[in-house]
Amino acid sequence: LPPIVSTIADVRAAVDAARAAHKPIGFVPTMGALHEGHAALVRAARGFVVVSIFVNPTQFGPKEDFAKYPRTIDADQKLCGDAGAHLIFAPSAEEMYPTNSFTFVDVAKLGDHLCGATRPGHFRGVCTVVLKLFNIVKPDAAHFGAKDYQQARIIAQMVRDLNVPVAVRVEPTVREPDGLALSSRNRYLSAEQRAVAPRIYQMLQATRARAAAGEIDVARLESALFADLAAIPGARVDYARVVDAETLQPLARLERPAVAAVAVFLGTTRLIDNLVLA
Ligand code: PAJ
Repeated sequence: LPPIVSTIADVRAAVDAARAAHKPIGFVPTMGALHEGHAALVRAARGFVVVSIFVNPTQFGPKEDFAKYPRTIDADQKLCGDAGAHLIFAPSAEEMYPTNSFTFVDVAKLGDHLCGATRPGHFRGVCTVVLKLFNIVKPDAAHFGAKDYQQARIIAQMVRDLNVPVAVRVEPTVREPDGLALSSRNRYLSAEQRAVAPRIYQMLQATRARAAAGEIDVARLESALFADLAAIPGARVDYARVVDAETLQPLARLERPAVAAVAVFLGTTRLIDNLVLA
């Protein structure tokens, strides 16, 4: 099993030793409760592979599920070992945020829509913790999932804007056989909710089919997608948008690469998914 270290000094020592042995450093930041989606990121990483497991308090809103976010460290350690990780960094909140931490990273513009609109401060917390982790682990490459499309775009932008010496790699979304994107939050779905959840991805595919059939009016694509999702029993649509795939800004017509991105509540469980429209 890969060792679990909890201090910044211990990670640095292990990473420095691997680097002295001429190994590249691969990094996969996570919040734990790991599943096959995370495992795919670990398998994509090369060299000495570090996985961080840290439920980052600064990216949760006051009414969100920080306290009840699943914590499954033993199973996580096993999954990391099976996927080929070499070290797990699982710091305490005090290790990451000592008293009198005043600096935050804010990527403007890309966080204005989608999850940024309904989760104020979320991406500020994500960027801050990810930049800190980059400075602690100093990876050559870091791997993120396309499932969190906006997150991956914002981190790539931060790395570019701040000249962070890391290659950001985005890996495809891993799905259940019925299409539902793997998520640590899927375990909260009731049997009824789980049965209808695959319709989220089906409706994204329907949007792609409409676009492929020649519909280029984004407002019409968005309202059809919204209506499709709202028709799922027990669903409440947080957002259903078709935006510029690179800048994540609203589009009037499909004249540039776009991404359809949605967030849907099934009961109190909020699921997100997206699909790039060719
Ligand atoms: P977490 O939700 O644990 O996700 C960790 C990484 O796994 C993210 O890059 C996410 O996009 C990826 N991932 C999750 N489900 C996936 C799936 N079904 N297929 C492929 N990749 C998937 O995202 C976070 O943690 C945090 O915001 C973090 C970046 C660690 C900062 O705290």
